[in-house]
Amino acid sequence: MIRRPRRNRQTEVLRNLVQETTLSVNDFIFPLFVIEGQNQRVEVASMPGISRFSIDTLQEEIASCVDLGIKAFAPFPSIPERLKDKYATESHNPDGLYANAIREIKRNFPEVVLFTDVAMDPYSSDGHDGIVENDEILNDESLEVLGKMALAQAQAGADVVAPSDMMDGRIGHIRRVLDEHGYQKVGIMSYAAKYASAFYGPFRDALSSAPKKGDKKTYQMDPANSREALVEAELDIAEGADSLMVKPALAYLDIIKALRERSNLPIAAYNVSGEYAMVKAAAERGWIDGEKAMLESLLSIKRAGADIILTYFAKEFAQSLKK
Ligand code: PBG
Repeated sequence: MIRRPRRNRQTEVLRNLVQETTLSVNDFIFPLFVIEGQNQRVEVASMPGISRFSIDTLQEEIASCVDLGIKAFAPFPSIPERLKDKYATESHNPDGLYANAIREIKRNFPEVVLFTDVAMDPYSSDGHDGIVENDEILNDESLEVLGKMALAQAQAGADVVAPSDMMDGRIGHIRRVLDEHGYQKVGIMSYAAKYASAFYGPFRDALSSAPKKGDKKTYQMDPANSREALVEAELDIAEGADSLMVKPALAYLDIIKALRERSNLPIAAYNVSGEYAMVKAAAERGWIDGEKAMLESLLSIKRAGADIILTYFAKEFAQSLKK
């Protein structure tokens, strides 16, 4: 044998030299759940290690992440039922839970970068990402709400708004609204290829945001499709997106790779709640090594071509580096 690939794997130093992909704390955005009240820190039952924080305790959580080198965050609000309505009015309340959380984080940690969520579902009494009329999810009418929401977030201090709703034309509409109000510097990370996935279950528990009726298949993508992701990405690029996201990540590594090959924009991947919960549940039972499975999952997402990874593992990853 002349060729022996095992020669390069003989020692750890050799293996490190030939390693093609590495992970660092700079790769991650850490999602955070915000709830009303004071001194609250409530663990999400289906996401061990992840809690919902009131605005005050959230500052402590962010401080501990910043100490570990995690400096990019994606907060999501949990809105009480009494504030939800058909038009998600609370979503653009300049004094609501979300705007207050954004302002408080930027006041305490001006250097952190906040990716804020633009979508109606946490505020919608129908639990959908658009206005519901006779069981139909209206597109253009919903854009109006998304524009107001993005503007309220920019005014509160968001660095990048991240529309996760999958309405057509939202990137262009939000870009126009932001620019008209002088927020040219606020970026847009588009959830370009967001699939109608079963892996969002724990997230919907955390925010009580599940659809009251029906599913999200008329706006989120069919898991059977990949070319459709390219169409979505092309449109979002043309409409002014600054980065493109694929969601979920692990079951869609081919989509991450396809977007990486076709676009020069930064590609983000969302390692979603169900993907996190699966690793945690199996590790709790002693069926897999949780830390190794975490590192392998994150590496595979990066290897597929993601520059940025949104993951509930971000803090744990940073802690594992310190060990
Ligand atoms: C909704 C939204 C969802 C997630 C982020 N934004 C769920 C959904 O579409 O129902 C899921 C994130 C996760 O599962 O971690 N706008």
